[in-house]
Amino acid sequence: MQLANAFFVLTIACSARQVRAHVAAWHKGMYCFNGTQPGFVNQNANEAVQPLFNLTRDEWWFHHKNNCDQFPPAPGDFLELPAGGTFTVEHAVNRAYTSLSYNGAGANEFLDGQPLPKLAENVELPCISSPNIHTQNESMAAGTAFAISYQSDITKVTEENLVVFTVLYNTPWRRIATYSVPASMPACPAEGCICAWGWVPNGCGEPNMYMLPYRCRVTGATSTIPLAPAKPAGWCEDDFSKCTPGAKQMIYWNQFEGNNIEVSGLDLSGHVRSPAYNVKLGFPNGAQNDIFLTGAAASSAASSAPRPTSTTPTSTPTSSSRPQDNSASRAGQLSHPALHYATLCFIFITLRLL
Ligand SMILES: *[C@@H]1O[C@H](CO)[C@@H](O)[C@H](O)[C@H]1NC(C)=O
Ligand SMILES: *[C@@H]1O[C@H](CO)[C@@H](O)[C@H](O)[C@H]1NC(C)=O
Ligand SMILES: *[C@@H]1O[C@H](CO)[C@@H](O)[C@H](O)[C@H]1NC(C)=O
Repeated sequence: MQLANAFFVLTIACSARQVRAHVAAWHKGMYCFNGTQPGFVNQNANEAVQPLFNLTRDEWWFHHKNNCDQFPPAPGDFLELPAGGTFTVEHAVNRAYTSLSYNGAGANEFLDGQPLPKLAENVELPCISSPNIHTQNESMAAGTAFAISYQSDITKVTEENLVVFTVLYNTPWRRIATYSVPASMPACPAEGCICAWGWVPNGCGEPNMYMLPYRCRVTGATSTIPLAPAKPAGWCEDDFSKCTPGAKQMIYWNQFEGNNIEVSGLDLSGHVRSPAYNVKLGFPNGAQNDIFLTGAAASSAASSAPRPTSTTPTSTPTSSSRPQDNSASRAGQLSHPALHYATLCFIFITLRLL
């Protein structure tokens, strides 16, 4: 471990000028936490941070593009959502820069292990270049979200049963990101729920999107009223009466197929419209408290719902716990250049010291 830490510190020193970077919300409950190489724990994993752009629905849905969805978290590793409380994840451009790798040796205030973000030089609209988080400053950061589906089997999750339940404005910006959970979230089935993290950056680079799977469960639930079916959010910055009320879908945008929103023209601040998890699409900041069934649907669903019992799963999930696709190992090599670079750098520094 000592050696690993020393090695890592050199890696950081060496890679300080790397600018190619994207973001994931890191947590032990996420899929592809250890990378996508079967049987290998990659503390330097970056498969999850690859952005999604112009892909088929099959490719972008739950980050199937590089088989992230084929690598579920270890049994018992859940993203825990306390009803009415908060939960914390780490936004970072590589698992190496979180508290979850190398005993936290690479974690710092910002997403790339650095104490401060850097402004780009010589560009008309100064964007943060490192980490490459598609924003000019914190106030322009587009916002991120988590959605939940009350299905334990990831293959049963659909656009309609995956509901955005919390939004965090002005993120990603700092590594530590704390989201609020609606107080009325009902308990998950015994084997847990499937959650997803979403981000649609606004400007400063390729207009892509993020959708990552997690295994999650609600703790301390008191309500049994289910979530309503999710509808696509629409642009409503100019007229809040046009916002989609209640349960909303994640934003699926700029893909080859399966998009649920299109925008054109400029927003009120004069920038090209870019849909995001913020007020422009009618997402309030924090817990989304209007996502539950109401009226007759709610009372009949609540009376037939099983009473929440234990939040501990009674059996360990077995479905798709092993990768099924040979291309997994190909995708797993995505993070190798960083590792090789680090190795070369290590040798370089060692030679210089001699
Ligand atoms: C999206 O992908 C399609 C099919 O691969 C391609 O024809 C098209 O040029 C791509 N569009 C963009 C904006 O990259
Ligand atoms: C991933 O690695 C962690 C150690 O960092 C380990 O606790 C966990 O069991 C691994 N998950 C899987 C699915 O192998
Ligand atoms: C953030 O960046 C935007 C776009 O460049 C700019 O209009 C705004 O004044 C900046 N805000 C702060 C607090 O610097």
